[in-house]
Amino acid sequence: MYYPDELVEEIRTKSDIVDVVSGYVKLQKKGASYFGLCPFHNEKSPSFSVSGGKQMFYCFGCGAGGNVFTFLMKYENLTFPEAVKMQAERVGVALPELEYSDEMRKRENRRSLLLEVNKEAAKYFYYQLRTPRGELGYQYLTGRQLSDETLKKFGLGFANKTSDDLTKYLKSKGYTDEVIREAGLASFDEKWGMHDKFWNRVMFPIQDINHRVIGFGGRVMGDGEPKYLNSPETPVFDKSRNLYGLNFARTSRKNHIILCEGYMDVISQHQAGFTEAVASLGTAFTAGQANLLRRYTENILLAYDSDGAGVKAALRAIGILREVGLTGKVINMQPYKDPDEFIKNLGAEAYQQRLDEAENAFLFEIRILERDYDQKDPEQKTKFHREIARRLCNFPEDMERENYIEAVAEKYHLGFENLRKLVASVATQTGLAKPMERPKSGIQSKKVSPEENVKKSERLLITWLSDEPGLLTKIRKYISPEDFTDELYRRVADLLFTEIEQGQFNPASIISQFEDEEEQQTAASLFHTKMTELENKQEKEKAFHDIVYNVKRNSYEFYSGKMGSDVAALNKVIEGKKALEELGKTHISLDLG
Ligand code: UTP
Ligand code: MN
Repeated sequence: MYYPDELVEEIRTKSDIVDVVSGYVKLQKKGASYFGLCPFHNEKSPSFSVSGGKQMFYCFGCGAGGNVFTFLMKYENLTFPEAVKMQAERVGVALPELEYSDEMRKRENRRSLLLEVNKEAAKYFYYQLRTPRGELGYQYLTGRQLSDETLKKFGLGFANKTSDDLTKYLKSKGYTDEVIREAGLASFDEKWGMHDKFWNRVMFPIQDINHRVIGFGGRVMGDGEPKYLNSPETPVFDKSRNLYGLNFARTSRKNHIILCEGYMDVISQHQAGFTEAVASLGTAFTAGQANLLRRYTENILLAYDSDGAGVKAALRAIGILREVGLTGKVINMQPYKDPDEFIKNLGAEAYQQRLDEAENAFLFEIRILERDYDQKDPEQKTKFHREIARRLCNFPEDMERENYIEAVAEKYHLGFENLRKLVASVATQTGLAKPMERPKSGIQSKKVSPEENVKKSERLLITWLSDEPGLLTKIRKYISPEDFTDELYRRVADLLFTEIEQGQFNPASIISQFEDEEEQQTAASLFHTKMTELENKQEKEKAFHDIVYNVKRNSYEFYSGKMGSDVAALNKVIEGKKALEELGKTHISLDLG
């Protein structure tokens, strides 16, 4: 724990999770809780709940859950201490300076050192571009119609022809060879010693969303290989989790983001007023980047190159966007190659029109698919239609599927009913038309592993006790935290039992005991296990008894298996056997008091 527990707890109790979440998600009151559309997965009907009483959120669809800090960590992509800090500022609690462990401090220092040296290098390149030595670079960039203002906004620069002047400069500023190399700005070999990675190129500093320089791309002026040279991945440069231009695009206040392929494309678009454009970093678009985008918008317009490679890349990107629940549309760039060339030739207004006319990603996919089939050959044509039908089956929701059937039928002159029948027949043949997927409650599924069953009982017991803390005293002589065989469950049970016994139980405070987002989420799920609705008291008492018995039996078996290697296990086994015998003949009443 970085901040003292009491302080974290103070900030948490001064916060209202309903308030905080409302700042991000539209919530509606339903009974004792609030519901809304889950910001962590794609859904059409609300399964995301926020409880003011419990000060927790939980999504019955995707299982995301936790307290106010978990929410901020997930939504704002923060670490635990960062989330605590953010909330502390909101509720007006002063925090002491963080106490880092030595190792943490080393790591943090390393990162900030790399960011510093990158910033220094960016400044150097920026300055060079504006000296006589940088004349060629300046000519090149202005020749590509970039204004001075644009050069400044993106911090563009120039790496000289000499192959070690950046290194020399950085060393004069006190940076070691090692740091310069780790930042990917230079390398070392026996023959040449330290030499700069970038020389005789115009330089594009790559910034993270907080405007910190994390790496560089460098372009040759004119022809030459490679056209762009990029910094390698470093501890501060994760190419799969950053996007070029996102530091500006995130505040563009459009309801979409334009995703393109190149640095120059981003810059041209921004210069033309499309400040919502971003690009991947010399590598293919990744799921990590899609998740990053999801924090800012639901709608992505793809502005990929119009050539074969660009179309292929667009198809891939569409798949990735779909995976994370984002909607994609494709901008038609014809007859130009990319946004930069389009805007240079036809201007911003024409480009805006292309944005307005962007093609639905599914229809784009079908249009590209069409090329693979000879439409004059009836057999090929039938195959094409079957493939369309197969893809239409992937829409789980009836209404959405119907709408797509309608759109496709119209576009390809297929007749709505015909296509609909084809979809239905393909669906039954291939078993594709699954009924709407139900959120995992873990209850109905039959084929669960034994370990999963064990965990299930443990979860049910924790949820039940957190709903009715008074029941703990009735089972305390049979069950102790050690009976929970999953380590994280055991920690939660330990905290839960202690808090209940001290008369101050609060699930949200238990969550703060975990710093890892995944752990917080698992802990939160323990308080939200779905229970079968039971009719009467008798059924309930039997269910509760079964759960307690199961947990104890699992524990007994668990420790029996460890007897050879663990001395304490023997005691647990003896104790367990006795408890099970007793439980077998004991009735546990659910009446309190
Ligand atoms: P393109 O080859 O499409 O170039 O590469 P571009 O964006 O149109 O660039 P200009 O207009 O010729 O200057 C698209 C992106 O792919 C990466 C770069 O990130 C580039 O912006 N790339 C391309 C490389 O990393 N290395 C290369 O050699 C080429
Ligand atoms: Mn280009």
